[in-house]
Formats: sequence, structure tokens, C-alpha cells
Amino acid sequence: MLPFDVYPLWDIEPVRGEGCYLYDKNGVRYLDFYGGHAVISVGHTHPRYVQRITEQLGRLAFYSNAVQNSLQRRLAERLGEASGYPHFALFLCNSGAEANENAIKLASFDTGKKKVLAFAKAFHGRTSGAVAATDNPKIVAPFNATPNVEFAPLNDIEAVEKMLKTGEFCAAIIEGIQGVGGILMPNDDFLQQLRARCSEHGARLILDEIQSGYGRSGKFFAHQWAGIEPDIITTAKGMANGFPIGGVLISPKFKAVHGMLGTTFGGNHLACAAALAVLEVFEEERILGNVEATGALLMNALRTVAGVRELRGRGLMIGMEMEKPAGELRRKLLFEHKIFTGAAGTHVIRLLPPLCVGRQQVDELVAALQKAIESEKQ
Ligand SMILES: Cc1ncc(COP(=O)(O)O)c(C=O)c1O
Repeated sequence: MLPFDVYPLWDIEPVRGEGCYLYDKNGVRYLDFYGGHAVISVGHTHPRYVQRITEQLGRLAFYSNAVQNSLQRRLAERLGEASGYPHFALFLCNSGAEANENAIKLASFDTGKKKVLAFAKAFHGRTSGAVAATDNPKIVAPFNATPNVEFAPLNDIEAVEKMLKTGEFCAAIIEGIQGVGGILMPNDDFLQQLRARCSEHGARLILDEIQSGYGRSGKFFAHQWAGIEPDIITTAKGMANGFPIGGVLISPKFKAVHGMLGTTFGGNHLACAAALAVLEVFEEERILGNVEATGALLMNALRTVAGVRELRGRGLMIGMEMEKPAGELRRKLLFEHKIFTGAAGTHVIRLLPPLCVGRQQVDELVAALQKAIESEKQ
């Protein structure tokens, strides 16, 4: 049997990671400005992370959600404190898509309605409800397509108002910063208006912070820049630095009913240990402060790079929209300068490094970018 061939692969195999760097089997070092798609938060093989998971593995890796699990309680408590949502409740699952699936389900159970408002260029995952709310017909199978999801342009409050005032919507779902769409920002004012209109028309506001959350924007969640409080927040990627986990943070407005949500693996002991290690490192190493400082440094340094049409983003979630298609530049960065970056569409380079990057890595990236762009001109 072979792997089902759904991924276009770079011909590189990292076999080891440390901090912001990856190494292949020949010991060649790569700078990680992609974070394995915004997943690496505290850095590859962080010693505390490795120690916590190893210890837990030796004690108990898994038991079902039919018994007490104090690691889940500790994680909920710690995440509540770290994120500024101590009054919310936590439902744990295994991935970003699953978190969104549960968020939509919860909003629908709670309101008794079935329509969801999503936004142009949104990406919410590949499972049934999540992919239906994703604005990419290529990944929506006929089975997933549903009239229950309608899309509005981002930052267009009039379009939102027109849809919500029908009273048919159980939820609006929006990314804190659109990632896959190309690092597109909802305006703070738009998020405030969206919050108000959802409340007014009886729709729950779901903030998908799967890519933009867990410190990536410089605040714990990107929507906190706008000073709003959603009804449901979804998280995954950076939450356990690569160990599969997803979380749904749920406002006290929702009443839990036994059996309404569930999962076999979600909230297992190993995943909780990994997620707790991440939060401990966040606190000890002041990761949020580093994201803000290094993000500002990076943004300023990128302003000196030629050929950039627009720079977007916050903290360490940055999109560089290039004047020319960016594919060749990314290839050069990877194969000649040994730097991983991400893409969005043809022209956007996405920078999503581990949240522990510093000045040295920023200098390394910017020098390489300048050289690669210069060599493209020749
Ligand atoms: C904003 C957002 N939501 C949801 C997802 C889906 O997460 P997962 O791949 O863990 O299912 C992603 C993944 O890229 C994402 O960026």
C-alpha cells in the first residue's frame, strides 16, 4: 500500500527539529518560517514539552471520557486564565475542523436554527459542516454542499445585516485573521459591528482562532485586538505544538446537556499533557511578549524588501503579497537558502514561524529574501 497521493510534496524530509530549525537526514539545517502550517508554537522539541509528554506516556496515555480526568480540568483552568476567558467552558476534540464542527452544532442546538453565515475566502476545515462554511468549491464535495451556509464579503456589515435580519441564522463564523485566504484582516470596527448584529438577531458568534489564536497575533486570540467577546471560540494548531488537539471555548450562555457533544480521543491524557506544557512555556518564556516584539521587528524589516505589493497581518502571522507570482521565490528560499515559508494563492507568501523566533532568525530570513529577490532580477 502507498499513501493516498493528495499532497504536493517538497522533496525534503526533516528528521529532527530544535527550536526554530529543522534538520534533514544529512544534517542540513532549515529555518522554519512556516511552523508546519502555524502549528509550532513553543518550538520544535522544546525540553519541557518533551519531558511532560514522555512522563505522561509512561503513566497513562489514554482512557475514555467516561471517567474523571483531572488533566482536562487543569487544562481548562489554565487556558481560561491564559486566554482571558476564565468564565467560559472547554470542550476538547482532536483537530481544527472538528472544533468548528462542534461549534456550529452547538450554535444550532442552542438556537434551533440551521443557517450559518460565513465569509468570502474563509477556510474552516474539511469535515462536513466546516467545509460547507469554507469558500473553496474545489474542496466541497456534492455531499457537503448545503443551502444552509451563505457567504458575505469580509468587512461588509451591510451584507451581514441583510442576511442576519432574516432571523434564520444560528451562527456567524469568522476567522480572527483569515489564514488560508491570504492573511486578510477583519477590521476591528467590523468585528465590533458583527458582534452587535449577531446579538441583535439571535445568531451566535463563532470566532475561528485555529490559525490566528494561541498567541500568534501578539494577543492570546486575534479578536481580542477588537475588544469583543464571541459566544464560541475554536482553537487547535498551536495549542499542543503539533500534538493533535482541538478546543471549543464556550460562553456560559450555553447549557451543557449530557451526550450533546462527544468524542473518543478528544481530551486524552497525552494531548492534555502536551497542551499544558505549551501553556507553561507560554508563561515562563513570556511568549506573547516575544510575538509582539519580534512581530514588530519582522514587519519593519520586511518593509525594506523590494517587490512587495502589500504587507498584512499581526504579530507572527504575516502575509507578503508580492508584485509577481511568488512560487519561484519560495522555491529559492527553500532550496537555496534553506528556509520554509507558506503560500496563499499565487502571490502571497505566508510567514507563520514558531512563536519563539527572535532577531537572529528575522535577520536570516530578510537577508535571504533580499538575495533571492535580487537573483530573480538577473
Ligand atoms: C482558520 C482555520 N480553521 C480550521 C482549520 C482546520 O484545521 P484542521 O486542519 O486541524 O482540521 C484550519 C487549518 O488550516 C484553519 O486555518
